[in-house]
Amino acid sequence: MKNNRRQFVKDAAKLSIAPFVLKPFNILPTGKLGGINNIRLATIGMGIQGHYDTKAARENEGIEFVGAADLYQGRLNHMKELEGKDFFTTRDYREILNRKDIDAVIIATTDHWHDKITIDSLKAGKHVYCEKPMVQDISEGAAVIDAWKASGKTMQVGSQRISGSDFEEARRLIAAGEIGEINFIEASYDRFSSIGAWNYSIPLDASANTVDWDNYLKDTAKIPFDAKRFFRWRNYKEYGTGVAGDLFVHLVTGVHYAVQSKGPERIYASGGLTYWKDGRNVPDVMVGVLDYPKTDKHAAFQLVMRVNFANAGTINNNTRIIGSEGQIEFQWNGLKITKRKLAKAPGMGGYDSLFTFEEKEQKAYENHYNSLYSEADKKAEPMTERIFKNPEDENEHVRHFGNFFENIRKGSQDTVEDPIFGFRAAAPVLACNKSYFEKTTLHWDPVKMKLI
Ligand SMILES: NC(=O)c1ccc[n+]([C@@H]2O[C@H](COP(=O)([O-])OP(=O)(O)OC[C@H]3O[C@@H](n4cnc5c(N)ncnc54)[C@H](O)[C@@H]3O)[C@@H](O)[C@H]2O)c1
Repeated sequence: MKNNRRQFVKDAAKLSIAPFVLKPFNILPTGKLGGINNIRLATIGMGIQGHYDTKAARENEGIEFVGAADLYQGRLNHMKELEGKDFFTTRDYREILNRKDIDAVIIATTDHWHDKITIDSLKAGKHVYCEKPMVQDISEGAAVIDAWKASGKTMQVGSQRISGSDFEEARRLIAAGEIGEINFIEASYDRFSSIGAWNYSIPLDASANTVDWDNYLKDTAKIPFDAKRFFRWRNYKEYGTGVAGDLFVHLVTGVHYAVQSKGPERIYASGGLTYWKDGRNVPDVMVGVLDYPKTDKHAAFQLVMRVNFANAGTINNNTRIIGSEGQIEFQWNGLKITKRKLAKAPGMGGYDSLFTFEEKEQKAYENHYNSLYSEADKKAEPMTERIFKNPEDENEHVRHFGNFFENIRKGSQDTVEDPIFGFRAAAPVLACNKSYFEKTTLHWDPVKMKLI
């Protein structure tokens, strides 16, 4: 919804001023820390988002960061540079799960590992914060939900933007009928840069010695070490989920939260690989069209999403929720709410058939029209515009973790983005991939969470 690049730049700027605070690894018994129940946290997948997540988590009170797992040795070594030489690191995430003193884990690995590590973590009695998309394939969703239910543990999926006040406000406005009945939502996420198109830097020491390549491959084809497939995994459908799983999922999550929807019933996507022909096997342009059925929370509407990684034109990424009486547009850290209502009278004259009638028929029609509608009926309510701004110092990412930790402390399994919510957002975007690759329209039961 909000521009991820801008958020990224904002976060990156913050990071460069205040990198990880050096906190030596310290074993404390689980208990009270400054009056707040201490939660011991470890991160599995210490790449880009693992760093951002860990930082956002630690900005909450009572969080002790005690370990990190990753498959690339350089990233583990860097954690020791940041946290101190005694900081616990491992290439094998199961060593994190075996540690009884760890309460919760962040799972920020490549998408293809999300389901397995989530299930293993829940079974090991850890609370789980798993990055989006919750799973890589629709077939994996039910097992994660079952494991979560059986575990009694708290789980949050990481589309953090819904924890901003703007989303809360949009949800409130829509529920109150402020923009009438929703009929259409459009959202785009275009980019125009190589890094934006996922071509991240590859370290010069990348090799089968510094990376646990066999483990990384999981159940995918056994192939020789390929640094691109490790450090630029989003470009390959074997490990990632393409633009749909990377970006559409944020848009769908936001829509489901704001409109209180369980999901679409029909899904179609088209696109192509137009520019970034660098060996990737996923499209760089994609449009998804999702039809949402009427429910007790909203009217039937259509959601159209677009990603174009080669947009050399104007990039104006926004989300507009359009209703019969106005629109909510997501802006930088806030909303623009526009309201207008049609006049009761339908109008007459101008670009209309009236002037083509015989003169006496024109006169008769005018008299008839004026007898039906008063002057007040002919006036539309003036259009109004209002801006909603998030509080200056608000950080949705920190708040998303705050919601996770608060529920852990309450002993509640419910979070703002629990696995049922997370799967209902992931499945339609994974269906976009299926639609694109199989050139077909998919039918989804959003209540039972099953393809039909
Ligand atoms: N919520 C957001 O806004 C947001 C933003 C960016 C990324 N993400 C998500 O975060 C996840 C990570 O993305 P990234 O950009 O940080 O990727 P990245 O390549 O920078 O980091 C991924 C890391 O996972 C590690 N990894 C993979 N399999 C592992 C395993 N079995 N055990 C331990 N470590 C393993 C890799 O070694 C790598 O260092 C993805 O799922 C992505 O979709 C979310």
